[in-house]
This record gives sequence, structure tokens and C-alpha cells, in this order.
Amino acid sequence: MGKPHAVIFDLDGVIVDTAKHHFQAWKQLADELGFNFTEEDNERLKGVSRMDSLNILLEIGGLNKSESEKQELAARKNKRYVEAISVMDESEILPGVLRFLQELKEHNIPYALGSASKNAPLILKQIGLYEKFNAIVDGNSISKAKPDPEVFLRGAEELSVTPGNCVVFEDAQSGIEAGKAAGMYVVGVGDSAVLAGADDYIRTMEEMTVSRLEK
Ligand code: G6P
Ligand code: MG
Repeated sequence: MGKPHAVIFDLDGVIVDTAKHHFQAWKQLADELGFNFTEEDNERLKGVSRMDSLNILLEIGGLNKSESEKQELAARKNKRYVEAISVMDESEILPGVLRFLQELKEHNIPYALGSASKNAPLILKQIGLYEKFNAIVDGNSISKAKPDPEVFLRGAEELSVTPGNCVVFEDAQSGIEAGKAAGMYVVGVGDSAVLAGADDYIRTMEEMTVSRLEK
């Protein structure tokens, strides 16, 4: 794609593995509601907003809940999730991430966060990366969830770069679609057999370099 003018990272599954903490918290809620929730089910919640995730969970359990009950259930799940992420530290940053961020800095390529999570600022502070991002766009500041491109377009805007010169890193199908809809070059992080539509794929950030993007 040529040298990128900016990079936008998804958070969960790209910078840190918070999926396990989300899974534990959703599973506990499902247990309390009286049904089983598996790791395979959890795949459907990646990149999906908190309320949409709850709706999928309730659908799996075959349950109907009122709006106020849903608010209570989502708050209960989030309370436990926040307890789990409040003890995270930099050791949970995924392999290759710090090295690649350092490489971007050396090349003067700014980078932003583009996440659906309302807990993104807390997580970034816990792992010591909050100050390093040139912009943070998260679930608190967007109105349309991925696969809508809003989160990534806002990131490009905040970095003052055109979308076509941005690279997105995403581990979720909805996020890859959002990045493509934004007109960006998308790198899928994970299994190319599971994730469709990205321009390139890596298993972990360890495989990523600026020169690979330039090709
Ligand atoms: C990310 C995760 C999802 C999560 C969403 C909202 O996209 O991949 O699993 O549901 O953020 O997270 P939040 O912290 O706001 O509940
Ligand atoms: Mg993700």
C-alpha cells in the first residue's frame, strides 16, 4: 500500500487478550440465568458492543428480558469485567505490539485506537499505553457500532489523515468490514480461514513490520 500515513488499532484481541475476561463475565451471567455459554458462543461477541452482546447471549439462552432487566444484566456483567481488567498490567500486552509501536514512532507514523469498548481508556491506562496513542476513539464517543466505519473514520479525522492512507488492525469480522467500509487497508489478526475480507493477515503482531506494509 506504500508507507502508511497512520495506523488504527482495535484493542481487544489486537493489543491485549481481554476476550478471556469478557468470556468469564458473560459465562457467569449465563450460569446465573440458567444456561450454558461456551467459548465457541463467545466468538460471536468479538467486536460487538456490550448491549448487542447481551442480546446475542439472551438469544443463545432463549430468554426474553425487558429493557430495564437488560440494563441491570449488562451492568452486572460489566462490574465483573471491570474487576478483572482493573488488575491487568503491561505483561498482558500481546507479543510484538510494543516493538511495532516503537517502529511506528521511529518512522513518525501516528497511531490511534479504534475500539467498541467503553472500558478502553481504563485498559490502556492499566497496560501503560494510554499516553502513547495520538488519538483514542472508543465506545464512549461513537454512535454506530462496527461494521459501521464510524469508529475508524473518526480516528483518521483526529489524526488528520485521509482514510485511504490508513492501516487498520482487527481481529473481529465486524471490525474488518468496518475498516474496509472506511476505505482503509485492513490487516486481519488471526486465522485467515475464519476472518474474511482483509487485505493481509497475521497471526500475531510479531509478524508485522513497516516494510511489510510498504510492499
Ligand atoms: C470490544 C470487544 C467486545 C466487547 C466490546 C464492548 O469490541 O471485542 O467483546 O463487547 O468491546 O466492550 P465494553 O468494555 O464496552 O463492554
Ligand atoms: Mg477486537
